[in-house]
Amino acid sequence: MTRDEQLRKEAAEAVSEHKNTVVSDPYRLHYHMMPPVGLLNDPNGFIQWKGTYHLFYQWMPFKTGHGAKFWGHYSSTDLVHWKEEEIALAPSEWFEKNGCYSGSAIEHKERIYAFYTGNVKDEEGNRESYQCLAVSDDGLTFEKKGPVIEVPKGYTAHFRDPKVWEQGDRYYMVVGAQTEDLKGAVALFSSDNLTEWTHEGILAGGDKGRIKDFGYMFECPDLFSLDEQDVLIFSPQGLEAEGMKYQNVYQAGYVIGKFDPETFSFDHGEFEELDRGFDFYAPQTTVDAKGRRILFAWMSVPDQDEQAHPTVDYKWLHIMTLPRELTIVDHKVIQKPARELEELREGSGVIHQAQLNGETIFLPEINGKTIELMLEEIVIEKGWFEINIHGAARLVYSSEQQLVTLERKSYVDGTMERRQCQLNDLESLQVFVDISSIEVFINEGRETFSARFFPDPKNSEITFGSSHKCSFVAKKWDLKKVF
Ligand code: FRU
Repeated sequence: MTRDEQLRKEAAEAVSEHKNTVVSDPYRLHYHMMPPVGLLNDPNGFIQWKGTYHLFYQWMPFKTGHGAKFWGHYSSTDLVHWKEEEIALAPSEWFEKNGCYSGSAIEHKERIYAFYTGNVKDEEGNRESYQCLAVSDDGLTFEKKGPVIEVPKGYTAHFRDPKVWEQGDRYYMVVGAQTEDLKGAVALFSSDNLTEWTHEGILAGGDKGRIKDFGYMFECPDLFSLDEQDVLIFSPQGLEAEGMKYQNVYQAGYVIGKFDPETFSFDHGEFEELDRGFDFYAPQTTVDAKGRRILFAWMSVPDQDEQAHPTVDYKWLHIMTLPRELTIVDHKVIQKPARELEELREGSGVIHQAQLNGETIFLPEINGKTIELMLEEIVIEKGWFEINIHGAARLVYSSEQQLVTLERKSYVDGTMERRQCQLNDLESLQVFVDISSIEVFINEGRETFSARFFPDPKNSEITFGSSHKCSFVAKKWDLKKVF
C-alpha cells in the first residue's frame, strides 16, 4: 500500500469509527458545511468547473486539532446542496508531509490546476514551505506535480496559501508571507505557463505602503477585480485591538485599490475588516459562470479557544460560513447571502407587523432552531432595539450611539462577550440561525456578524425588545436540513 492509500484508509476509518458520536451531537448544523469527523478550517480551491462548484477545505481527520492537513472536498451544482467527495489531497509526499496546506484552483486546458502549500517540519520543528501543483482531469482525483516554488530570499518559512488568477495573457499568484524582519506581507509571482514562476516582490505589507508594519504574518491572500476596482483580501496576524476593531485573536479583511499587472504595483486604501463577529477567518473567493464573486470563510479563528468548543466532545470541530456574493458600494465591500440560499426556505414563510413600546415580546410564529429571519421597515424612535436568540445571543442596535452589538454567551466561561461596530441607521436585518451558528447581514450586507453560539439545545425562542417605541415587519422561514 502506498503512503497515500494508507492515509486515505486511516481517514476513512476515523470517519466510520466516530460517525455515530459525531451525528449524535445536538450542535450539528443543518445547512452549513461541517467535517465528517475531526477539524475543518480554511476554504480551499474554490472553483466552478464545468458547471459544478467545488469547495475543498483544510481537514484534520484524526483529531479536533491542527496538524498534517488533508484537502477534504464538497461539490454542488447550486451552492445549497453539497455532496461529500473523496479526499482530494492527502499529505503523503516528502514536500507536504506535515500538511497539504491552503491554496486555490483555476481552470487551464479544461483541467483543474490546484496550487497549495506543502508544509514540512523536521524533528526540531524547523519549517520548510513549498508551493505545489496538483492537476485534475475529472475534478475528483488529483495528480501531484510537486513543488513549483521554493521560499525566495527575504522571507521566513511562514510562506503559504497561494492564490492564482489569470489576467491578460499571464498568470499571477499571491502568497501569504512573513518578511525576514518578521512583518506580514503578500508576495507576488507571475508566470506564462503555470509551472515556472517568477517572484515579483512584495505586493503589499512588509515595510512599505499603507499596511506596513501591520502584524507579523499575513495568511490566505486573495486578489481579484470587483466592480472595476481591485480588492486584496488577507488575514493578518499580530494586530493589537483598537477600540471596536481587531477584537478577535486574528483578523480577516481587505484593502481596495488598483493592481498594475505590468509594474506589479498595488496602490490601495486602508484595511477594513470583512466581518464584525467572533468567528470569521481565511476567506476565499471565486468568480462563477454568472460572473458573481462568491466568498466562503472559515467560521472560526485560529488559537481562539478552539478546544473549548462543546463539539470537541463529539469528535468534530468548526464549520464554513454560508456562501456570500460580493459587490463594492461606496468604496466598501458588501456581502449578501448567495441568492440560491432561498432554496433552503420551506414554504412561503410567515409575516408579522410588529409594534413595540419599551417591552419584550415573543411572537409564537417567529422562532425556531434553523431559520432565516428578515426584518424590514425598521423604525426605532429612540433608545435601543434588540433581538434575543435562544437565550444565548443578543443583537442590539442603539439609535443614540449608532452602534450595533452582537453579544453571545461565551462557550469558555458562560459570561457574555461582545463585538460591535458603528452604523448610522438600522434599515434591515437578515439573520440566518442554524442550531449553533448565527450570521447577520445588516442593511443589505453593509455589515455582517458571524458567530458560533451554543444555546440550550431545547431553547428555540426568539424575543424582540426595545426601550421605546419601535416597529418593523418581520418575515421568517424555516430552513431545510441539507447536511
Ligand atoms: C489559516 C492557515 C493557513 C494554512 C492553513 C493550515 O487558517 O493557518 O495559513 O495554510 O491554515 O491548515
